[in-house]
Amino acid sequence: MKGVILAGGTGSRLHPLTKIINKHLLPVGNIPMICHGVEKFRKAGIEDILLVIGKHSAGLFTELLGSGKEWGVRLTYKIQEEAGGIAQALSLAEPLMKPGERFVVLLGDNLFEDSLTPYVQAFVKQTEGARVLLKKVHDPTRYGVPILLDDKIDSIEEKPAVPKSEYCVTGIYMYDSGVFDVVRSIKPSGRGELEITDVNNVYASKGQLTYDILDGWWTDAGTFQSLYQASGRQLEGECR
Ligand code: G1P
Repeated sequence: MKGVILAGGTGSRLHPLTKIINKHLLPVGNIPMICHGVEKFRKAGIEDILLVIGKHSAGLFTELLGSGKEWGVRLTYKIQEEAGGIAQALSLAEPLMKPGERFVVLLGDNLFEDSLTPYVQAFVKQTEGARVLLKKVHDPTRYGVPILLDDKIDSIEEKPAVPKSEYCVTGIYMYDSGVFDVVRSIKPSGRGELEITDVNNVYASKGQLTYDILDGWWTDAGTFQSLYQASGRQLEGECR
């Protein structure tokens, strides 16, 4: 199985830090943020990894990670030219996938304790559809919030004012090869972007969106507060 790390975007919530460097290269504790995702994939046996990055800082990513040889992985880079949203970034992975191949996607600013291995194994056993990882949070309004239906997700509301569960959909997603057709079928949101929640809701509406709940700590690092919190964690990442 291949892995995709989405590491583009403008990082506007972290200005002015992200005016000079891409968010995913900022230090979190003792490592650059991007190293966390690469290491999580490597430890789960996912060694073919696509990094979707922006033009901003592109040379710094290759300077840090190169081909991935030093870290025991094979890296491919794709440039997302426009700020078209997470789902648009994901669609750049299509030419790299073999027909019918399934894959795991990480948002590069999602940092977490759990090993990906058991979740990927559960997805391998799943015959079709998509799988997302959830975490109970105290402020669900900041995230995609799932409405749960036993072992499936009924639907997801993106940043709802009144959340219908205490969980957030983390930026850890697993998809079958049908996801690229799903991305083509959705329309840009009010902010002009192709939203990952709209993609996931297509799977949910077909009864094909399953989930697991992360055991360990999880945080995104897209705001000053969350970046600061994440910096106090013990992070995995060999690229130092
Ligand atoms: C994105 C997703 C959201 C998800 C979050 C996890 O939000 O749209 O559904 O809960 O990542 O980090 P963003 O951080 O782009 O606002």
